Amino acid sequence: MTKDELETLLVRGAFNAEEVCGALVAPIFQAVTFRQPEIGVEIPFDYSRAANPTRSVLERQIALLEEGCAGFAFASGMAAITAVFFLFDGGGEILIPLDLYGGTYRLLDVYFKKFGISWRIADTTDAASLEREFSSDTRAVLLETPTNPLLRVSDIAEVSRVAHRHGALVIADNTFLSPYFQRPLPLGADIVVHSATKYLGGHNDVLAGLAVVKDEELAERFLEVQKATGGVLAPFDSYLLLRGIKTLGLRMERETENATAIARWLSGREGVDRVYYPGLESDQGHAVLKKQATGAGALLSFELSEAHSVKEFFGALEIITPAESLGAVESLVCHPATMSHASVPPEMRVRMGISDRLVRLSVGIEGLNSLIADLDKAFSVSAL
Ligand SMILES: Cc1ncc(COP(=O)(O)O)c(C=O)c1O
Repeated sequence: MTKDELETLLVRGAFNAEEVCGALVAPIFQAVTFRQPEIGVEIPFDYSRAANPTRSVLERQIALLEEGCAGFAFASGMAAITAVFFLFDGGGEILIPLDLYGGTYRLLDVYFKKFGISWRIADTTDAASLEREFSSDTRAVLLETPTNPLLRVSDIAEVSRVAHRHGALVIADNTFLSPYFQRPLPLGADIVVHSATKYLGGHNDVLAGLAVVKDEELAERFLEVQKATGGVLAPFDSYLLLRGIKTLGLRMERETENATAIARWLSGREGVDRVYYPGLESDQGHAVLKKQATGAGALLSFELSEAHSVKEFFGALEIITPAESLGAVESLVCHPATMSHASVPPEMRVRMGISDRLVRLSVGIEGLNSLIADLDKAFSVSAL
């Protein structure tokens, strides 16, 4: 898909004009149930857990954007990921990256273990070493690329080739780059998931999850799981996401511009031991990112040096807000050890490479000078 086609799809994609009044915006069908004209005859909408007209527009839209076969909308990113893991109902093992969102780790470690699904950490950034990790039990590789919070980049095409050789599926969490910058399905992945709460919604006002599968066979299985587990997205929230998606490109361009400038400003400055941002030429994920994505996104992390108090640094920020979540127009700062990854046991956080001095920034669309001035002040105030 060309950039031009993508930009048009974001605004005009799955919905043209509503048939009765010609409305240009998808109507919110709040209805739970629908009249059945004849017993035993299938109709597209009968009960909103199975399908809802507003949600269906969103599901078609994300399938178009991710170049997949079918899309599914859920009440949160975790509900979408839960539904994906339910595809592996017969048990088996899922390989997971060195670091990943703490909630996904908890879901596997605390809950899916009870259903006989085990997990094992593998270095997904190195396809050659990954090949050695497969066993006859391995049913899937879960990718986050870039990862949360260390922005490690995995080669989606290479990992997919290796996984498919071993009969395993590739699930790609595409939350950080969104289909605007990266589309894992044409690269070889089988399933894409999103915390749509983040870039797709983009305004910190809707909690949602999306999944897209590459073929009919997976679509049929996934539809059954969605209907049976029922964690679907409400009509109004589906509308909010459709609205957010229209400006995805504009937001991501501006946020990435700001993030790139901030990553450069942080690199090598006093108070920063290391910057993690695949948009920097010096970053270890840069080459692979350039191969498979058209932008580096607006998430970056850095290690605050021992010469600064982490607590004071967070306390001194006025524009960049300490808060959970990411990917919206407001710049947010996160302390992964106590926020996004607090559910990961401390020894596992160490193994993942998440230190207590790690700071994660989700850069928004505010003025760049204001953001840099805010950070500059926090470095001064937090100096020990
Ligand atoms: C990469 C990633 N995947 C999934 C999730 C979970 O999404 P949600 O909070 O919408 O349930 C998050 C949340 O931060 C995330 O960062």
